[in-house]
Amino acid sequence: MKTVLSGIQPSGKLTLGNYIGAMKNFVKLQNDYACNFMVVDLHAITVAQDPKALREQSEAVAALFIAAGIDPGKANVYMQSHVPPHAELGWILTTLTSMGELERMTQFKDKAAGKESVGAGLFVYPSLMAADILVYNADLVPVGEDQKQHLELARDLASRFNHRFGEYFTSPDPYIPEVGARIMSLDDASKKMSKSNPNPGSYIALLDTPDEIRKKISRATTDSGKEVRYDPAEKPEISNLMSIYSECSGKSLAEIQNEYEGQMYGGFKKDLAEVAVSVLEPLQKRYYEIRESGQLYDILAKGADRAMETASRTLNDVKERMGFLLPR
Ligand code: AMP
Ligand code: TRP
Repeated sequence: MKTVLSGIQPSGKLTLGNYIGAMKNFVKLQNDYACNFMVVDLHAITVAQDPKALREQSEAVAALFIAAGIDPGKANVYMQSHVPPHAELGWILTTLTSMGELERMTQFKDKAAGKESVGAGLFVYPSLMAADILVYNADLVPVGEDQKQHLELARDLASRFNHRFGEYFTSPDPYIPEVGARIMSLDDASKKMSKSNPNPGSYIALLDTPDEIRKKISRATTDSGKEVRYDPAEKPEISNLMSIYSECSGKSLAEIQNEYEGQMYGGFKKDLAEVAVSVLEPLQKRYYEIRESGQLYDILAKGADRAMETASRTLNDVKERMGFLLPR
């Protein structure tokens, strides 16, 4: 069976963009692949986190994985920091990464822009992400569009290692959805929907109440004109809302366009809100059940144990190939 790995940072509320761009595909892949889905706490601390908030968000993201439909009997769900080989292989791969490669990372440039002081962890984070993937020799990595460049580094590091130390790592392929790989802000379709946006009206959080969801969608920016037509260049705002509609309902963009032909934005937005609520309401119900059930820590422990088996084996193989003295 081929292997899948992905991770989400516990660095704030998860949004509908995280769900559509990543989690929904996690659920889809779990039946056909050996899956590992992590809460990447070691990544989250590359920007300052309040300890109490980090703990809460870590539990929340783990519970959201399950609530979104990941079955911990099929896929490993765990905390990145519970599997120490991530950090150790991360360091090893950092030594194989050049400054130039990291300097070219657009996410680093965005996150560092305008800051007086930037942590070195933020700079080397793509090497840690490569370790996350390569430590399981993952074949496929489901992510949103914004992670494509980081994944290319993982592929480069795999082939660099193989070239220097002998064929070992699998080159991981990205798994990026065609629609929904980049859900945009509700207030500005030129920016990605993001949990770090200071305007909460710009995103739908997975735990927003149905009324908040309705309100946010009714206030979402629309383009001039009035047809509901998919045209990202001319009508970026409506096209984004149509992508959300499509991903939440399973209808194609063409079907949606036909359905709303000759209608105004208002009716479309009302229906979109109900479609989004129909996905998020049951997810939220499961979320609160899991948090109250007290099962979460058990699920995380089992996931980490299973992940550890593969990860420690890889780390050992890597060290051996690189010439580390292994303990006897
Ligand atoms: P992050 O919240 O940065 O940890 O992202 C977790 C996953 O969600 C990654 O695979 C991202 O690519 C994906 N993601 C985040 N925001 C969006 C968005 N607005 N549209 C689509 N995918 C997203
Ligand atoms: N860097 C990813 C993000 O910010 C999260 C992540 C960390 C990840 N390690 C990963 C995603 C490994 C896929 C595979 O969204």
